[in-house]
Amino acid sequence: RDKNGVRKFALTMQQGRTGILPGVQTATWGFNGTFLGPTLRAARGDTVQMAVTNRLGEAGTVHWHGMRLPARMDGGPHQQIEPGATWTPQWTIDQPAATSWYHPHPHGSTAAHVYRGLAGMFIVDDDERPELPSEYGVDDIPLILQDKKFARDGASFSGDPLKGTFGILGDHILVNGTYDPFLRVRTERVRFRILNGSNARMYHVGFADRRRFHVVGNDAGLLAAPVTVDRLSLTPGERAEIVVAFTAGEQVVLRSFGGDADIDEGDLDLLKIVAASRLESSPAVPGRLADLTPIQPPPGARVRRFRLNGHDAINGREMDMTRIDEVVPAGAVEIWEIENNVYAHNFHIHEVAFRVLDVKGSPPPAYASGHKDTVYVPSKSTVRLAVQFGHHTDPASPYMYHCHILRHEDSGMMGQFVIV
Ligand code: C2O
Ligand code: CU
Ligand code: CU
Repeated sequence: RDKNGVRKFALTMQQGRTGILPGVQTATWGFNGTFLGPTLRAARGDTVQMAVTNRLGEAGTVHWHGMRLPARMDGGPHQQIEPGATWTPQWTIDQPAATSWYHPHPHGSTAAHVYRGLAGMFIVDDDERPELPSEYGVDDIPLILQDKKFARDGASFSGDPLKGTFGILGDHILVNGTYDPFLRVRTERVRFRILNGSNARMYHVGFADRRRFHVVGNDAGLLAAPVTVDRLSLTPGERAEIVVAFTAGEQVVLRSFGGDADIDEGDLDLLKIVAASRLESSPAVPGRLADLTPIQPPPGARVRRFRLNGHDAINGREMDMTRIDEVVPAGAVEIWEIENNVYAHNFHIHEVAFRVLDVKGSPPPAYASGHKDTVYVPSKSTVRLAVQFGHHTDPASPYMYHCHILRHEDSGMMGQFVIV
């Protein structure tokens, strides 16, 4: 913090080499290091200032995915950082506690930049804290899920993130950049903040022994009350916070169970968990977590329709940096209908929080009933969202909405809106 109370962060995007597979260094990109980036943390009410320096040797951007902020601070394709330059956005955090993240967003190169390793978590805290495990790295653990393909010699990631229908579906799962990871837990309950930071892959997360666990949060914050499940699905960009109970001395595997959507093939082990022979006690998960007022469209709310076409357009148009597609009044609550007649997609809207009203006419699973910013749009379905827009008006600076399968986003399945 500086003398005015501004909380300052410095991030440098750089290239390097990282030991991921045994005995070999892989060419990677990272923030302040060679791979991925530090977890950023700030509280509601904080004014934060970022200093983002680009040492990649090519232009980039950094977008704060999940943050509610003025469009010029958003880090989308318009906030380009030239090689050698430093970008210094500043804003005041005004949103509930949440697990957000940050990643590059240069139009046409997002897939490549994220795939090489530019991504990190951004945790927002809030005064209202229900009694959940919250000691970072001890019983409050970030899990960034990513899939990679390695070149035969392991010296680089392979695959073209802009080829094929979905880009890359990797055959090596990395968690926080680690291949074949394990975690020792020392408490009876552990909170995991799970981020799907993959380019295209969808995970259906559960445990090998099918134990049940509590979902306590979605993308944009805590749920009103915990929801007990044995499985939850995350498409790229989505987050979930879960709390899991362990017994002393046991071993269990966090796993992704294959599904039928092309982007979720195969059962994949994510993380081996080993519980210590004696566990510190943890509080029970509270029955109420947050005062969550459901986002409710007013009578006669504006309805906007978005049809996803192929893998490169929305409503028949490819992304155009010079075209504003939608103009939204500040503070509006609208219904956005996303229609998908082709294969799997998802949909992310910058700046907002939304509630999923229905998927193919049915309400979403209870664990996905909270505030979100990214949603799965299954093949041949319509998803309806109640979208709450913020109050940062700027007719000249657009925010993005797009499919978060990065191959699709980069090829044009993205549009721009302004808040006025
Ligand atoms: Cu996480 Cu527009 O992106
Ligand atoms: Cu975003
Ligand atoms: Cu898509």
